[in-house]
Amino acid sequence: MAAKIIDGKQIASKIKNELKNEVDQLKLKGIFPGLAVVIVGNNPASRVYVNAKKKACEEIGIYSEEYALPEETTQQELLDLVRTLNKKKEVHGILVQLPLPKHLNEEEVINTINPNKDVDAFHPVNVGRIILGNPVFLPCTPAGVMELIKQSGFDVEGKECVVVGRSNIVGKPQSILLLEQHGTVTICHSRTRNLKDVCRRADILVVAVGKPHIITGDMIKPGAVVIDVGVNRLENKKLAGDVDFDSAVEVAGAITPVPGGVGPMTIAMLMKNTVKAAQQ
Ligand code: GUN
Repeated sequence: MAAKIIDGKQIASKIKNELKNEVDQLKLKGIFPGLAVVIVGNNPASRVYVNAKKKACEEIGIYSEEYALPEETTQQELLDLVRTLNKKKEVHGILVQLPLPKHLNEEEVINTINPNKDVDAFHPVNVGRIILGNPVFLPCTPAGVMELIKQSGFDVEGKECVVVGRSNIVGKPQSILLLEQHGTVTICHSRTRNLKDVCRRADILVVAVGKPHIITGDMIKPGAVVIDVGVNRLENKKLAGDVDFDSAVEVAGAITPVPGGVGPMTIAMLMKNTVKAAQQ
C-alpha cells in the first residue's frame, strides 16, 4: 500500500490562519508585529525564499521591510545595518537570508543579531537555549518537521529516529528537537558506514543533505514516516528532494512531497517566531 502523503502546504495554511488571529489580537493592544528581511547579493534561490517570507507576512498581517543589499556590500556595512535593526522598535524579528556572499563572515553577522530578535534561532544564545531545553525561538525548519510529524498523528516518544545530515541549520537542531520529544536519535553524515542499514532502522527518517535522491525505497523501513527537507534544482529545472519519492512512497507509511512538504512549514514557523518576538 502506498504511503500517506503529508500535505505541508495545508498544515502550514492552518497554522498561518491561527497566527492571523493572534496578530489581530496584538493589533488591538497597539502591537504591530514587524519583520526585517535582509538579503545580500543575487542568489536566485535566496530571492525566491525572501519573496515567500514577505508574502506570508502580508497574508497574516505582519509588517515587513526588506533590505536588499548589493553583492559587494562590506562586512562593516552589513553589521551596521544589523545594529540599526537591533535598535529599531518597529522591528521585532530580524532575518538575514543565508548563504551570504563568500567574502562575508556569516558567523559574525549572526552573533551581532539581538538574540531576542533572532527569529531564525541561529544565534549561539538561542542554540544554547534549545540544547538546554529552554528555547525562546524554535529553529524554523526543524520545528516545521516536528509539526508535520505531530499533525500526521505520529508520536516521537520511544521511536527510532534517524536524521541524515548534520548542518547547523537543520540536522543538528533537528536531532535535539527529536531527543526533546523522547525519540532515540541517530545522526548520519557523509562518513557514516552502512547508511542503508542505519536508515532501515528508522521509524522516523528525516533527510537534510542537499543531494537529490540519495535515499531510495530500499533504505526505508516499511511503514516509516519519511520527512524530506531537501530542495534540489535539477538540470531540467525541476525541484527534487533528497528522497527518491517514487520508490520511497511504495515503502513508507507517510512521506512529505517536494515541493509542498517541509518548505511551507519553515515559513509558517518563521511567522510563529515573529509573532512570539512581538508578544515579548
Ligand atoms: N537559508 C536556508 N535556510 C534558511 C533559513 O531558514 N533562514 C535563513 N535566514 N537563511 C536560510
